[in-house]
Amino acid sequence: MKLLIGCDHAGYELVEKLIPLLEQEKHQLELVGTFSKEQSVDYPDFAHLVCNHLLAKEADCGILVCGTGIGMAIAANKIKGIRAANVADCYSAKMCRAHNDANVLCLGSRVIGLNLALEIIKVFLATSYEGGRHQRRIDKYE
Ligand code: RB5
Repeated sequence: MKLLIGCDHAGYELVEKLIPLLEQEKHQLELVGTFSKEQSVDYPDFAHLVCNHLLAKEADCGILVCGTGIGMAIAANKIKGIRAANVADCYSAKMCRAHNDANVLCLGSRVIGLNLALEIIKVFLATSYEGGRHQRRIDKYE
């Protein structure tokens, strides 16, 4: 799968560790920034970059990492067509795909560790949207 990844300074260290592990899984990755943990940046800038590229169909889904995942999710969900889920467990990773057709996964680097983050991403990518009654519900807020 082609994945667009964005993070702020708080998310960078986790992203740096995730990238080689995801490449081992044969995913194609593009990090749109930020590229350092030292320089303080504004997470909405990177949420917007990932979401706009995703809506331009440049990737299959987006992954956004900040300290909590919260700011990234709020910023991403302001954009029409984006369904971002802030996830910290594998069950939610599955359900946000199956029922909500989430197209952006948000993670909090200060909330979860590397191994759980990797498992969450794997579950998110492996789960398909179920459609059916869930589409009627999504249509009510899209
Ligand atoms: C940065 O300190 C922090 O506020 C940001 O990474 C994020 O957690 C916001 O939601």
